[in-house]
Amino acid sequence: MNIILMGPPGGGKGTQAKILEEKYGMVQLSTGDMLRAAIAAGTPVGLEAKTLMDAGKLVPDQVVIGIIAERLDQPDARKGFILDGFPRTTAQAEALDRMLAEKGLKLDGAIEIRVPDEYIVERITGRYTCGKCGAGYHDKFQQPKVAGVCDSCGGTEFKRRDDDNALTVKSRLDAYHAKTAPIIPYYDGKGLLRVVDGTQPIDVVTGQLTGIIDRSSR
Ligand code: AP5
Ligand code: MG
Repeated sequence: MNIILMGPPGGGKGTQAKILEEKYGMVQLSTGDMLRAAIAAGTPVGLEAKTLMDAGKLVPDQVVIGIIAERLDQPDARKGFILDGFPRTTAQAEALDRMLAEKGLKLDGAIEIRVPDEYIVERITGRYTCGKCGAGYHDKFQQPKVAGVCDSCGGTEFKRRDDDNALTVKSRLDAYHAKTAPIIPYYDGKGLLRVVDGTQPIDVVTGQLTGIIDRSSR
């Protein structure tokens, strides 16, 4: 199955994509994670992206389209994929359609994790990840079982994203409403849109998502 997870910054796309990846054996394709890897590696794409990401602005369409086109060609994407954070503009949505057609792939659904803006600052400013394995946590909503120790790998070093601050959140939300939310009707028009209530606890949101996936794969 090939799906898109849509929703605002901090809406829970990455958290849910990781859970679905484990449950269904699909791969999470997060353009944000790919860009952060490019920054860490100091590549030209990373250098171009860093300033924009730190300011909460979108990276140019051609850059992310190129990254996704390459990633979709890797063999594991044939197991099924979860697009997380792509497409984010109409041009990206149209490019994705062209890419999938060329590669003989199709989309099975586009799921919006709907979360109103007033939840987002708390979600984003409380987020942190394990520095060793990348498992995601939240100061209030998703704490490790033993304080200071990663549930997944036992790591004890954690990190926070450079763009996870209250100032940048405003620009990221503005970009979401101006550029990304308008593509939701694009998928509705194709009969692919499903919506889940992202204000519910993490496990409840997962239940809504698995319900949709299980129904559509029958
Ligand atoms: P990206 O990395 O995609 O960031 P984003 O869209 O801003 O989304 P986030 O990763 O912040 O949130 P999320 O929805 O994954 O939430 P999470 O699950 O972590 O992009 C970063 C930047 O890269 C962009 O600003 C842009 O510059 C650039 N970029 C990336 N893709 C691009 C593209 N296609 N085009 C152009 N530019 C691009 O959850 C957040 C926190 O909340 C966590 O701590 C989690 O534990 C907690 N949480 C999750 N769900 C719940 C819940 N149900 N209840 C309570 N807490 C919850
Ligand atoms: Mg994410």
